[in-house]
Amino acid sequence: MSSFFFFNYQGINYNPVQQNSKLEQLATATRDIPTEGEGSFHRTTFGAKADNVEVGMKAGRRGPYLLSDPIMRDKVSHFDHERIPERVVHARGDAAHGFFKLHTSLEDVTHAKVLTDLETEVPMFVRFSSVLGSAGAAETAREVRGFASRFYTEEGNWDIVGNNIPVFFIQDGIKFPDLIHAGKPDPKAGLPQAQTAHDNFWDFISLSEESTHMASWALSDVTIPRSYRMIQGFGVNTFVLVNGEGKRTFVKFHWKPHLGKHSLCWDEALKLGGQDPDYLRRDLQMFIDAGIFPKWELGVQLVAEEDEDKFSFDLLDCTKIIPEEEVPIKWVGTMTLNRTVTDQFAENEQVAFCTQNIVPGIDYSDDPMLHTRNFSYFDTQISRLGGINFSQIPINQPIPQACPFLNTLRDGYSSKVIPNGPNYYPNRFGNNPGPASVAQGGLHHPPYKVGGLRQRELGEKFYEYYDQATLHYNSLSDAEKANLVYTATFELGRCDDRGVQERMMDRFKHIDYDFAKNVAANFGIDVGEPVRQNHGRKTDGENPISMLSKHNIFKAEGRLIAMVAPDGFDYQQAIAIQKAFLALGNIVAVIGTRKGPTYGKNGEQLDTQFTFESARSTLFDSLVFLDGNDQYQKTLQLGRAKHWCIEAYAHFKALAVIGSSAEWASKLIPITNKIDDGKSFSVQDGVVVAPNLTNQDTSLFEKLTHGAYDAATFAGAYAGAVAGHRYWHRDNSGLVY
Ligand code: HEM
Repeated sequence: MSSFFFFNYQGINYNPVQQNSKLEQLATATRDIPTEGEGSFHRTTFGAKADNVEVGMKAGRRGPYLLSDPIMRDKVSHFDHERIPERVVHARGDAAHGFFKLHTSLEDVTHAKVLTDLETEVPMFVRFSSVLGSAGAAETAREVRGFASRFYTEEGNWDIVGNNIPVFFIQDGIKFPDLIHAGKPDPKAGLPQAQTAHDNFWDFISLSEESTHMASWALSDVTIPRSYRMIQGFGVNTFVLVNGEGKRTFVKFHWKPHLGKHSLCWDEALKLGGQDPDYLRRDLQMFIDAGIFPKWELGVQLVAEEDEDKFSFDLLDCTKIIPEEEVPIKWVGTMTLNRTVTDQFAENEQVAFCTQNIVPGIDYSDDPMLHTRNFSYFDTQISRLGGINFSQIPINQPIPQACPFLNTLRDGYSSKVIPNGPNYYPNRFGNNPGPASVAQGGLHHPPYKVGGLRQRELGEKFYEYYDQATLHYNSLSDAEKANLVYTATFELGRCDDRGVQERMMDRFKHIDYDFAKNVAANFGIDVGEPVRQNHGRKTDGENPISMLSKHNIFKAEGRLIAMVAPDGFDYQQAIAIQKAFLALGNIVAVIGTRKGPTYGKNGEQLDTQFTFESARSTLFDSLVFLDGNDQYQKTLQLGRAKHWCIEAYAHFKALAVIGSSAEWASKLIPITNKIDDGKSFSVQDGVVVAPNLTNQDTSLFEKLTHGAYDAATFAGAYAGAVAGHRYWHRDNSGLVY
């Protein structure tokens, strides 16, 4: 399906419409507008055809409007009520359909069909979001990202409403309204939008010690993801799996992206906020529509009920991870997103995720955050979606195997079904509608012991706040630690209250003394003596903390590559690069001096998607500057063209400079590559320099196989450079970008 919001990239086969049982159900609610015949007329909402939809009824041609005009009233009144309240948090997001296929059964620990049935492809709907920004906020603001996934199982809807960070700011949901009020725009000033870089937010954090671990994550690069396709997902709260014998096992849910977890850099994110505020949704839709489907692995960390107390932290405390060294992740299935929404309002806006939505075989733990969430999500939908019947909205209905169903719930605003059966139970009509036993697939919460005094307290281990904050810090690479200092300096640099800055330095001191000193130096604050020793422990695992971990995935796949091809470019090289990188699952955009045709040095024609003016290097993962004739080289002398090259280098991206472009680039960026005798290219720090690569050598672009980058060929070397994603240790301090 080609979309008019995206660019017509050559060589892309737009995604044919995908099907599954949920999509078939949605199709019955979808209304196509025919272009001819009876259905093509505009009818009022009550079904009459309108004779004029552009001019209303007046008393005389120039006379006053008549209130009796039903067509005007119908149109304008409906329009007046088009908006519904945006989500109180996570208002800005985008969603896609897909499916989940289990490959490893969890039958030992659960009887949930979705986690034991290896045959069925379960339809899914996933919504990615930011937290604080309003519905129209720029998507690259530094923010935690929501990762809400719904499985439309045959036993009902199961929602994992998670984030891209495995822990949260607070331990008890009673504080959530305060956390969000502190992060949202100040009520008097109405600013700032979609960011945490302000006094109120850091004031709250500095006064909430339990936030220290999450603050370390929020200041790291995960809050500026390169793509929704490249974020991890975490259920955050501890849930419980229940097997056929009623045995309970604690579980943490993980999503691991097949493309690895990757971020933007901060300068890029700031610029994209203006250059393409829709950057993340455009990216998601563009790749899915191009048939390059993002995938994630679902993982579980399982803890037997009897082992609940064996950890130094409390399993019910959502400000703590379970380090993978203590409980490894078991990978059980794959999610593929393969279809974008048909209508943003009907699907993305009206989907009502609820943490309480579980299916038989899954249960809640006593995590105090989870319990408040179970109340809050259901509650908020009642006002956001206009009443109690929001589950009847097509995107929220369970799939036909679990629905239509009948229960004794009735009436309320906008009920869309005509129930035909008893509205109370028990009744004289038998089990109609009545409860299902476990054997019949009933949702059962097995008993377990609870007890203690009624009180407003948390478990004892909840009160240790710093151990895992330090663990997170220690687990980052040096480059990420440096970014953390830079980010903390930016965030607190936007605060004006000295007390807030000083209290945050104290929190940082509890994470790591050197970290605190490095940030404090940018504020002229004396942090005093250390308050605790860094324990020196790190954690790494298959869903890693550090983006530079050996467990992260680096692939030249799912990337957007800009091929710079103003008039006079080498056409054979251009085609070879396009072919090679499309075959790996990338999109290659052509950049020229005009939108429309651009001409090779022998008059060959390619279509451009962007010019140097209609885009910037920030939109792309990597740039290729081709070989070209004098005219080509003259264009590269433009300041804007030079800026593309310098900016991409300064944003640590992979670059390829070929033929005559190599010398041009060496005057702009610090290329120190030496080319060995007998070779036509060399690679250093993600820059592939190939001054001698001419169009006769296009065979060097071939033999590129998926995932195996043959560094003996130019294309293999460039694919390897693209796979590296960022070359953080480049020194960009002297560049103007
Ligand atoms: C473990 C911590 C939490 C995580 C991971 C989390 C995650 C999310 C996500 C992903 C969404 C967006 C859902 C969508 O895309 O439609 C969301 C929305 C929301 N969250 Fe949370 N949240 C957390 C804590 C809380 C708490 C403690 C509360 C309240 C006590 C809360 C209340 C809400 C509300 C009211 C919405 C808006 C729902 C809607 O209007 O559809 N969240 N949250």
